[in-house]
Amino acid sequence: MVRPSLAVRLGSLELAYPTLMGSGCYGSGAEYAPFADLSKVGAIVLKSVTRAPRLGNAMPRLVHTPAGMLNAIGLQNPGIDWYLERELHKYADRPCKIIGSVAGFSVDDYAFVCERLAARDEIAAVELNVSCPNVDREGATFGCDASLTASVVRAARATTTKPLIVKLSPNVTDITAVAREAEDAGADALGVINTVRGMAIDVERWKPRLANISGGLSGPAIRPIAVLAVYEVAQAVKIPIVGQGGIETVTDALEFFLAGAAAVSIGTANFTDPRIPQRIVEELETYLARRNVASLSEIVGKANVAFSTPHQYEGDEG
Ligand SMILES: Cc1cc2nc3c(=O)[nH]c(=O)nc-3n(C[C@H](O)[C@H](O)[C@H](O)COP(=O)(O)O)c2cc1C
Repeated sequence: MVRPSLAVRLGSLELAYPTLMGSGCYGSGAEYAPFADLSKVGAIVLKSVTRAPRLGNAMPRLVHTPAGMLNAIGLQNPGIDWYLERELHKYADRPCKIIGSVAGFSVDDYAFVCERLAARDEIAAVELNVSCPNVDREGATFGCDASLTASVVRAARATTTKPLIVKLSPNVTDITAVAREAEDAGADALGVINTVRGMAIDVERWKPRLANISGGLSGPAIRPIAVLAVYEVAQAVKIPIVGQGGIETVTDALEFFLAGAAAVSIGTANFTDPRIPQRIVEELETYLARRNVASLSEIVGKANVAFSTPHQYEGDEG
């Protein structure tokens, strides 16, 4: 069996493997290193960092839901200055790429943090988490408005030539409109999708289960929403897509590749089994090799082709 190539490019970012570890779901990788082979990870996306330190939301911040979880962490982080001075140097020796993630509450916040983060050698690319409220527009979420998203991307773009991944919110009527604006504003790749808004209520206490009332739903519950979003966005833009939302197995990841994702991101699944990313990579190699597919890129978006003939299965089983 020929070993298929799993390498992907997101703009000028070259990854040996097509698997990113989702922001807020993998720490800096240190917590996972005793259990997982980080050299088999494409990239780790760090927890989103903001201009000022944030304590995050009041507890409880996490709720278990059927096939997923609701979180309202509230972007807890030490702020960009502390991060640059005390944290980032620790990640220099990771055997995979490190992607910084920027969150903000104004366009200027994004530019400020992006510029500082991207200037560091440890950072190979920057992801913009646009699922944040804009204080200048009564808390409207940047990612829910195409022109606001474009403003953030343009401002961040002006600060760096490193690859910019814009992580889109699914909490919109037409995600393709936001995707197009992000592309036009200079994004090198799109993350599709961030969490879906949700709420859970404690019927004994007659209170929301999250102190923040609402939160972001992640895990397998959102996978079909995410696969459709990837499929639609792939028709609308030319830049590569990092598909995410409920990926737990190689079959899940394949759905995203076939829908049009060049790479995938694994978030919530890491909380239950740190070996899932490595297993997905190994099983992806086997899947492609058995079908004589030389490179992962050959199957990207192939679910779009009407009446396509799948690659001949040439394994020895069945
Ligand atoms: C506990 C938790 C914290 C998260 N924190 C962030 C964050 O700081 N920035 C961000 O862009 N996404 C954050 N996410 C979203 C994930 O990175 C991912 O995009 C989303 O959960 C969908 O993928 P999944 O279903 O595989 O988790 C967080 C998700 C969870 C569950």
